[in-house]
Amino acid sequence: MRTLIRGGRVVTAADVYDGDVLIDGESVVATGTGLDGADEVIDATGCLVLPGLVDNHTHLSMPFGGTVSCDDYDTGTAAAAAGGTTCIVDFAIQTDGSLLEGLRQWQGRAEGAAHIDYGFHLAVTDASESALAEMEQAVAEGVTSFKCFMAYKGAIMVTDDQLLSVLQQAGRTGGLVMVHAENGDAVDLYQREAIAAGDTAPRFHATTRPPEVEGEATGRAIRLAHWAGQPLFVVHVTCEEAVREIQAARDRGEPVFGETCIQYLFLTVDELARPGFEGAKYVCSPPLREARHRDILYAALRQGALQGISTDHCPFNFEGQKELGKDDFRLIPNGMPVIEFRLSLLYDRAVRTGKLSLTELVRLTSAEPARIFGLAPRKGTIAPGADADIVIFDPEKPLAISAATHHMNIDYDPFEGWEVRGAPRTVLARGDVVVADGEVVSKPGRGRYVKRALFDPAATVPALATV
Ligand code: URP
Ligand code: ZN
Ligand code: ZN
Repeated sequence: MRTLIRGGRVVTAADVYDGDVLIDGESVVATGTGLDGADEVIDATGCLVLPGLVDNHTHLSMPFGGTVSCDDYDTGTAAAAAGGTTCIVDFAIQTDGSLLEGLRQWQGRAEGAAHIDYGFHLAVTDASESALAEMEQAVAEGVTSFKCFMAYKGAIMVTDDQLLSVLQQAGRTGGLVMVHAENGDAVDLYQREAIAAGDTAPRFHATTRPPEVEGEATGRAIRLAHWAGQPLFVVHVTCEEAVREIQAARDRGEPVFGETCIQYLFLTVDELARPGFEGAKYVCSPPLREARHRDILYAALRQGALQGISTDHCPFNFEGQKELGKDDFRLIPNGMPVIEFRLSLLYDRAVRTGKLSLTELVRLTSAEPARIFGLAPRKGTIAPGADADIVIFDPEKPLAISAATHHMNIDYDPFEGWEVRGAPRTVLARGDVVVADGEVVSKPGRGRYVKRALFDPAATVPALATV
């Protein structure tokens, strides 16, 4: 079937133009003006026509601190689609010592459940010889990135020698190494000191993980990657200290890349001091920061020190899950529900206010994540040959964010009560309408596993061909 998206303003990482997009089956076959020959026409007058967003950082059904994140592949990907995300890369975690066992478990959760396409990273939590050996098979199966946690001591943290071995092994097998950069030893000490002093409330989650522990770990990871001669991707960068390390490495010509996440652009550490235990809703790692860091993150995004804005979606209900840490902030499961409103928030609060341009929005949420994580050129752009993953975004549509109406399977929303202007009207994923008039109309199981290519630091965003 051929579908024509007519009369919208098409935006890619390189261009903004008024035109039409012609889809045949799962793919875009033409862009331009005056196109016809379609079985069905979608009128996009007054709307932006954007590539579906890629979210390269999600945690669906992830075990953490004795509980499991409360969006599964059905609810999590439905919420993603509602907000304009058409492909995710989720973190499978090494399980029973094995990377491949972790991968199989996550594949089992996704198959038959996902509404949109998905890939996996693998988190290496114990860099044993057997786990390192499994990286080759993972890469062969299209899992081309590996994450190490430098925090969460006593749980999933790796030591420096383990991180270095993963980097060395990636040099042999291929694969991009990603790091959660916080000095886990320092955090552990600060946490024990805080608890001994009776400081058990949520806000002490932030005071025990100050920006300097993120900056130090970022610099250390960059140094280890340099020793191993490998590129590095730093996840969820939150602060000036970490940005400076990444910028300095890039100035030296080292292939260091990074992202920030939506919550660090729109929320601050003040949320953790909400009355009662409400601050627990905002506990994530690294923590939310003081407002001054946001300008530095925006500058890094515009100037290219950071390449992406993902979500780190890792939702835990307030009741029964966040409450586990009522008497000790260390037991609050870390993470926030943020998969759904990335596009609307960025459009209303960053594009409309001049912090990001439309092409920067697409570069940071689609094109660069697709390139770095081996999904390009099929994902991340609107061009002949690309998957027809497309958001028809109404820039005037009002959206009132609330847990009462969001699609995520969680009992609160960190942006509760926020009113924004701009929301997806229709979302297509590989040519299927998955969201119509703002409602999810797809079925669990339509999403497919995407075998990802290896990252090539020398490649640029794929060239666009317009006709
Ligand atoms: O608080 C967070 N970020 N939870 C998810 C796990 C991680 O560190 O990415
Ligand atoms: Zn992390
Ligand atoms: Zn994460």
